[in-house]
Amino acid sequence: MTNRRPLVIGIAGGSGSGKTSVTNSIYNVFKDHSVVVIEQDYYYKDQSHLKFEERLETNYDHPLAFDTDLLIKHINELLKHCPVEKPVYDYALHTRSSETITIEPKDVIILEGILVLEDARLRDLMDIKLFVDTDADLRIIRRIQRDINERGRTIDSVIDQYLSVVRPMHNQFIEPTKRYADIIIPEGGHNEVAIDLMVTKIKTILESEDVV
Ligand code: CTP
Repeated sequence: MTNRRPLVIGIAGGSGSGKTSVTNSIYNVFKDHSVVVIEQDYYYKDQSHLKFEERLETNYDHPLAFDTDLLIKHINELLKHCPVEKPVYDYALHTRSSETITIEPKDVIILEGILVLEDARLRDLMDIKLFVDTDADLRIIRRIQRDINERGRTIDSVIDQYLSVVRPMHNQFIEPTKRYADIIIPEGGHNEVAIDLMVTKIKTILESEDVV
């Protein structure tokens, strides 16, 4: 860890677009140096005061579902080289869990999530803004596989949620943030050329500050 201002990289894109793959590809290159990943998903608002049935009614694809003030506070703390207590989100209970994860400040901060480019305050903290652009048919296929295998959902519930919430919110809030991206990466995590270009760009910035 150096004294320079950490580099903040925002990685946005629709649900199932491959943000996690892009994030992991970049993370794996720099993990021996100094990189931390902050997932916007972990900053869903605490809903422990609501009954479980009420939590099911929440629109998780709307900007107001996130505790963006806390996320901004934490990024600012990391930029000041201070550790933060990252919340942990429980997808089965639809609320924040009681544990937290201590995140130490690092030279590179990757902020990943569907709506990380939506809030101007977050955008202003970013040095590089990416949008992972993957066709809707591939995104829904990935979402069905993931939500059934990893989040304990049924096929009917995934399709209902997609049509009633995920798709309209994508069109209203996520897709328009593409205009803020410095780089649009087509076809998510499988675009090795785009990821190599990103890695080269990050290395150049870090080397110019004598970090790598
Ligand atoms: N979500 C949900 N239930 C919750 C909280 C969130 O179904 N209790 C869903 C939201 O509908 C939102 C999605 O989680 O669309 C956000 O995660 P997503 O972007 O799909 O996952 P990542 O793994 O971060 O991204 P990618 O698939 O692009 O790798």
